[in-house]
Amino acid sequence: MSESEVLIGLFGSGGFGREVMPLLRLAMAEGEFVFVEPEGRDESANGHRVIGEEEFFADRRPAKFVNVAIGAGRLRARVLGRALARGAQPLSIVSPTASILDGNDIGPAAIVCHHAVITANARIGRGFHCNLGAYVAHDCVIGDFVTFAPGVKCNGNVEIGDYAYIGAGAVLRQGYPGRPLRIGRGATVGMGAIVVADVPDGATVAGNPARPLARRGDQPATAAPAP
Ligand SMILES: CC(C)(COP(=O)(O)OP(=O)(O)OC[C@H]1O[C@@H](n2cnc3c(N)ncnc32)[C@H](O)[C@@H]1OP(=O)(O)O)[C@@H](O)C(=O)NCCC(=O)NCCS
Repeated sequence: MSESEVLIGLFGSGGFGREVMPLLRLAMAEGEFVFVEPEGRDESANGHRVIGEEEFFADRRPAKFVNVAIGAGRLRARVLGRALARGAQPLSIVSPTASILDGNDIGPAAIVCHHAVITANARIGRGFHCNLGAYVAHDCVIGDFVTFAPGVKCNGNVEIGDYAYIGAGAVLRQGYPGRPLRIGRGATVGMGAIVVADVPDGATVAGNPARPLARRGDQPATAAPAP
């Protein structure tokens, strides 16, 4: 297929998108590579056109591929879902310096960045982001649209629910066969957290050992009454 027949869209031209575009160029031998935003922009980003979603979908080229460089898992799922429903094909992006070893099952539209490692027998859902230098060790089970920030250390036998976000440098203690460490659906693990116990669905944890984060406006149970 000639270049003019292939359009490759990376949804999201923010910092992560601009980091990933060079890897996308390596993933496809030919084609036009564009960033896609809800509305297009006049200026280009690092030499690539930034087109609107409607322009992307209206393009008549016979082959259109997509990936989504948006860190928020739920939004990423919606954007990818729209693109696939309108005929684009998902494309995974794996850095040449990443290592994906034996027996892994990784869903479509993944992004595996420089020096990331996925070792053995992991099962990973759709739209996984594994940022710079993060790893997934043996026998992990990771849901759909999960995001690993740079340097996440996910040790063996960890289960992670859909849309969970694991912050930069967090360490997830290993689980055991039949008794995995569980990070809940939609949970957030703060950067630098050391996670030694299960994290409930939707919770935000941080610190060493990781504990639920007090949200602004939360009152400690022992708070003194206002004077
Ligand atoms: C955990 C996190 C999600 C919380 O964000 P937030 O809800 O906006 O929280 P705030 O910034 O309002 O901080 C709330 C409190 O938690 C503390 N806190 C925030 N993040 C923390 C962390 N990772 N570890 C320990 N404490 C943290 C803050 O110091 C603050 O404490 P205070 O109330 O005593 O001042 C966020 O700080 C984080 O770690 N995000 C991940 C960032 C990342 O990895 N980026 C990678 C980009 S590629």
